[in-house]
Order: sequence, then C-alpha cells, then structure tokens
Amino acid sequence: MLDKETIKRNFSRSAPDYDRHAALQQRMAAELLASLPALKPHRILDLGCGTGRLTRQLADLFPQASVVGLDIAPGMIEVAGREGRPNLHFMVGDGEEVTGVEEWDLIVSNATLQWLNAEQVLARAARALKARGLLAFTTFGPQTLLELRTSGFQVNSFLSADELRQLAAPLFARVELTAHNVLREFPGIRELLYHLKELGANTPVSRRPADLTAFRRFRARHPVVVATFEVINGLLFKSD
Ligand SMILES: C[S@@+](CC[C@H](N)C(=O)[O-])C[C@H]1O[C@@H](n2cnc3c(N)ncnc32)[C@H](O)[C@@H]1O
Repeated sequence: MLDKETIKRNFSRSAPDYDRHAALQQRMAAELLASLPALKPHRILDLGCGTGRLTRQLADLFPQASVVGLDIAPGMIEVAGREGRPNLHFMVGDGEEVTGVEEWDLIVSNATLQWLNAEQVLARAARALKARGLLAFTTFGPQTLLELRTSGFQVNSFLSADELRQLAAPLFARVELTAHNVLREFPGIRELLYHLKELGANTPVSRRPADLTAFRRFRARHPVVVATFEVINGLLFKSD
C-alpha cells in the first residue's frame, strides 16, 4: 500500500487531465448508478470523489439530497469544485477517517476502495450509514493487471470479492458483490504505464534493475498489450 502523501501527490498531479484517461472509471460509475435500487436519499457521501463527475451526477439525480464529495487529494477537489451544484459540496479529507454515526442515507465510492484500508472503511461506513442506508461501491479485484504481475512487475495487491464479502458480512445485513473482467488493449507497455500514471496510479516500474529487466523483457514479447481490469461491484445494505 502506498503512503498517503504519495497518493495525495500523485492524484493531485493527475487531476487536471484525469477525466481524459478515466474511461474505465466512468464506465464503472455508470454501472454503479445503474445498480442502485429505488432510493430517496437525503444525505449522500461520495468517498474518493476525484474530479466529481459521479458526485455531480448524484446531485442531479437526487436534487432533494445534500451531496458531499470527499477526496484526500487537494488537486482533485480543486478541479471538482470548478463545477458546482446548489446541493453539492466538495471537501478535502481522508475516507478512512469518516467518523459520523447514522449520518448518511447513501455512501458511494467509485474505483477508490483499492487505495484505502477496506476493513476500516467498511466498518466506519456501516456506522456512518442511517438504519436503512446503503454503501454502493466499485473497486478493482486481484486479476487486475495480471499480465504485468505474472511478468515480474510489482503491482498493488487487491482484495478479492470473497475477501470483501468476509469483511462486509458481519457489518451489513445484506451483501451483494459481483466481479467481472474488462480487457483493455494498449499499443505497447509504455502506453499502458503512461495510462496508469495519468490516472494517478502508482506506475509499477521503478528504476530498480529488476523492474527495468521486466520492462524490457515484456516489451520484447508483447508488441501489443491486452491488460485485464477486474471490476468488483458492491451493494451493502445496512438493513434488509
Ligand atoms: C481512481 S480515482 C477515482 C475517482 C472517482 N471516484 C472516479 O470515479 O473517477 C481514486 C480517488 O481516490 C482518492 N483517494 C485515495 N485515497 C483516499 C483516501 N484515503 N481518502 C479519500 N480519497 C482517497 C484519490 O485522490 C482519487 O481521487
């Protein structure tokens, strides 16, 4: 897991161009929205809101609700805040430190949980949700970037849907989790790494000799790169 200062710095740096590179994250957000059951939430929190696309969509979809977008990267919040809504508020903050009790009807988190301590966030979200509240999230599973991992690159570790289910089961009355793989083609390894960097993700190649060797070997073997992204969708209901 990366330290928070690095996460903040990387995402703040990528914020101005993030939306241009985030087609997959936008598709995940669309899936998250489509998966929501009929709701009339009054208070909505978006954990790791990034540039605020999904947060704005929620504010438009639920005009009666007060919506808060929270992100640890000040650069993200700066970009998010450029386009407001009367019922929308963005703030810099750590999603692992949510402290409220029965405050929110709906907590969403798109493509972010993999950066956080999931056990802590799920426990805090369960406490922060009202009695009939819902946590709806997407995240990445362990098959993500398996082409790089199996070729000797250091790739972040991701929790599986089963591991998330085990964490969520004692905290939520109903746990619905699904996972599917999305394949993305890149003209080469360099382009894939550039893509990850522009998203603010840690690039899995350092200047360590082992990484450079893996990079050169991979480039020679794979003129075109197909990368796997395992997408996990979760709906966690506080009560039945
Ligand atoms: C891949 S981006 C997703 C952004 C947005 N949800 C989207 O769908 O485009 C992950 C976001 O999580 C934020 N993040 C990472 N760690 C965080 C933390 N501890 N608390 C709040 N936000 C965090 C990053 O700054 C980044 O904006």
